[in-house]
Amino acid sequence: MLAALAREPGPPPSVVDVVEVEPGALDEGGSVRLRMLASTVNPSDLVTISGAYASRTRYPFVPGFEGVGEVVEVGEDAPRELLGRRVLPLGTAGNWQEYKVAPARWCFAVPDDVTTEDACFAYVNPLSALLMVDEHAHAGVRVAAVNGATSAIGGQLRALLDARGIEVIGLTSGATGRRVPSPADWSAVVSTAVPGWGEEVRRLSGGAGVDVAFDCVGGEHAATLLGAIRPGGSLVHYGLLSGRPIPAGSLREHPGRRIHLFRLRDIVHASSREQIQALLDRSYRGIAAGSLRTAVSGARPLREIRRLIAEAPSAAGKLLVTFP
Ligand SMILES: NC(=O)c1ccc[n+]([C@@H]2O[C@H](COP(=O)([O-])OP(=O)(O)OC[C@H]3O[C@@H](n4cnc5c(N)ncnc54)[C@H](OP(=O)(O)O)[C@@H]3O)[C@@H](O)[C@H]2O)c1
Repeated sequence: MLAALAREPGPPPSVVDVVEVEPGALDEGGSVRLRMLASTVNPSDLVTISGAYASRTRYPFVPGFEGVGEVVEVGEDAPRELLGRRVLPLGTAGNWQEYKVAPARWCFAVPDDVTTEDACFAYVNPLSALLMVDEHAHAGVRVAAVNGATSAIGGQLRALLDARGIEVIGLTSGATGRRVPSPADWSAVVSTAVPGWGEEVRRLSGGAGVDVAFDCVGGEHAATLLGAIRPGGSLVHYGLLSGRPIPAGSLREHPGRRIHLFRLRDIVHASSREQIQALLDRSYRGIAAGSLRTAVSGARPLREIRRLIAEAPSAAGKLLVTFP
């Protein structure tokens, strides 16, 4: 069978090859074999391949944190009723291969009325957006800022915050050439390529600063964003698209603000199956309603993974890996 293999840490388009490998064996701990139907290409895949999490990434490995597979074989101790079901195999990479062996306890059945394409994107971004908004958009929050406003999760954060009556200021970097699909949905959209954007965000918030900012960029950008948050407010830091950490000392320059780190992986691994299922149910409802749906702009077969990886960062929407 074919698998995409990240050989070593490095620029993703040059260190990932599609190779022929032996299918994995079903272990005795209740595993299933999935025929992968579709997978996604997300920044978290590319960041992991590049070596950003070197201490917990062993090479070579098969990337792909998100995808949908059909159960074609169940091992001993795995529920037989999973056979033939479409499932999301959560908790591990390895979705960029034709067949994946996964523990049954980490497989979550996809409802029949959800398309494979929608289900592919039901996990990483919707669950992160739901959890961050649950935690940080409490009753006192009136105005929020969201960077990466053209990103999939940026749009989902906006929709969830808006549903709570919170004004949302979107920030775009221009790094990808993407445009916010419906600018009117945001209370304002600010370009961070324009000097003084931090003051502009503060001005738009009414002068004091936003109550909470959701940051997937990091670096100097996050330091400026901290200054656009009112004293007592929070920066929820969940991504590193700039490739740089928030500079040490940023909080000293903006006393009274707090930084909260968010990592979906940590929460999912500490949650029960029932808790994860309840979040997925909310995600499917949001997808059906449109608020958590992800725009897909293209698909390519696994053997073209290098092209997919190269195209993903500037594509108009998400790209799918298919398994013809
Ligand atoms: N911590 C977690 O558990 C967790 C969970 C889910 C997602 N995330 C993170 O959320 C982020 C967005 O994910 P996604 O799947 O929604 O991404 P996406 O749809 O592929 O969009 C990425 C967006 O990032 C912005 N961007 C790209 N390069 C940038 C740069 N060099 N500097 C500043 N902004 C840049 C662009 O937005 P603009 O054009 O609007 O600037 C772009 O639209 C990623 O960092 C991902 O790792 C983290």
